[in-house]
Amino acid sequence: MKENRRDFIKKLTIGGIGVGMATEAFPMHAFDPSIEQSKRDRKARRRSKNQTFNMCGYRAPKLDKVRVGFIGVGKRGYSNLRQMTFLEGVEIVAICDIVQDRIDEIQRLLSNQKLPAAQAYLGSDAWKAVCEHPDIDLVSIAVPRGPLHARISVYAMQCGKHVAVEVPAIETVDEAWELVETSETTRKHCMIMENCCYDFFELLTLNMVRQGFFGELIHADAGYIHHQELYNKTRDLNMWRLEESQKYTGNLYPTHGLGPVCQAMNINRGDRFTYMSSISSNDFMLGKKIAELAQSDDFYKKYDTHSYNGNMNTSIIRTELGRTIMLQYDTTSPRSYSRIHMLSGTKAACMKYPLPARISVGSDWLPDEEVEKLSDTYMPEIVKKIGDMAKQVGGHGGMDFLMTWRLIDCLRNGLPMDMDVYDAAAWSVIIPLSKWSVANRSNSIDIPDFTRGAYKTNTPLDVAFLDGGSTTVRNL
Ligand SMILES: NC(=O)c1ccc[n+]([C@@H]2O[C@H](COP(=O)([O-])OP(=O)(O)OC[C@H]3O[C@@H](n4cnc5c(N)ncnc54)[C@H](O)[C@@H]3O)[C@@H](O)[C@H]2O)c1
Repeated sequence: MKENRRDFIKKLTIGGIGVGMATEAFPMHAFDPSIEQSKRDRKARRRSKNQTFNMCGYRAPKLDKVRVGFIGVGKRGYSNLRQMTFLEGVEIVAICDIVQDRIDEIQRLLSNQKLPAAQAYLGSDAWKAVCEHPDIDLVSIAVPRGPLHARISVYAMQCGKHVAVEVPAIETVDEAWELVETSETTRKHCMIMENCCYDFFELLTLNMVRQGFFGELIHADAGYIHHQELYNKTRDLNMWRLEESQKYTGNLYPTHGLGPVCQAMNINRGDRFTYMSSISSNDFMLGKKIAELAQSDDFYKKYDTHSYNGNMNTSIIRTELGRTIMLQYDTTSPRSYSRIHMLSGTKAACMKYPLPARISVGSDWLPDEEVEKLSDTYMPEIVKKIGDMAKQVGGHGGMDFLMTWRLIDCLRNGLPMDMDVYDAAAWSVIIPLSKWSVANRSNSIDIPDFTRGAYKTNTPLDVAFLDGGSTTVRNL
């Protein structure tokens, strides 16, 4: 049956992610950027000498069955765990949260899926016991972003577990190095769960880049533009997203837009980030909204500080090969959802958002039929193979399932991670570096090479995903 344009575009653009950001000029909060910078310089110098072991391309011993412990089973943790209930070769051993209801909800899910109950761990430090659990191979982390992401990841690897950590993986430069060094010394994978890398149009265009359709890539635009009611009381336990926007100024959530363009540009695998600058607008909305709410609801009084992240942050990044990336972050403006995903090469360009996704080889976008033909020609095998199943399982339209399936399949077949610890560090480090640049009149700042030179010889991600593929599906 011939698809109409809407169906076709829907098929290509299945994403639509959820998360979240921050009047007045930028609050300096409690930190002095020049001191922070020199501390960072010292640490970076100390740490930049030699790679202990190269985790890019590393094949860990195969695991016939992957036994998983989930830490943080709120909205995202629930969804990540649910994906795994559809996979053969996975055992959900433990779940951990600070809220009993969340644990109960997961046990109900497991029971509905006819799977055994998981060992439950309750309490803010209970994650340590999950990391120490002798019968767990993989620790999956979905606690609110902040220092816990790196702390739990590092401890889990030290306890001999592979790690799948929600985005972003770190919030300071030091944490990024710690993650890298721990993964290298323990030889445990630390995969950043950047599901947008598995969205269909992103996979299609990645393959087109690999096949030479775009010629040489010159520039990319990426972003996370997602209107979110951060002040909504029912949104997050302890209002963690609102508090994050109250504390920091910069790009607080870079990886959804950045991950896919980094894979297209072979960042850490042929090219690398060298330096960046970042600029933020004032906050014109969040502070006013909170002040308005605080007049009638005491709950908001402590948030009525008029000190919120600027509504729009724009960062620009330059790479070693002389290419550039523009990256935006805005979670407050009433705009339609966008990760932009614009790739500009010497022969062609594409732009996913605003939808519909488009491709050009000259000054006009190609007609739909041409894009459809290109999609048939270039869509990677993984989408042809499990794309329909992924849509059936769901999770941001299917990309979450593709990611989870691939994570488990790689571990079971001893394959390298599609997104390794260097990607986790480089994609997430935009957060602290953007904060520094914004606080310093958009001065540029060096981006560490977390691969310590290995990027020159690391092999690009195999977008054909030809290896493995043995993991089957149940409970559909
Ligand atoms: N990849 C994506 O598409 C995507 C989407 C949403 C969120 N995220 C990321 O996922 C993470 C979680 O976001 P969310 O929306 O699920 O938030 P959430 O608030 O719904 O869930 C966080 C869970 O962690 C629990 N928690 C807090 N402290 C804990 C501790 N010390 N030990 C154990 N559990 C603890 C909370 O009780 C809650 O259940 C964030 O890092 C966010 O950036 C990613």
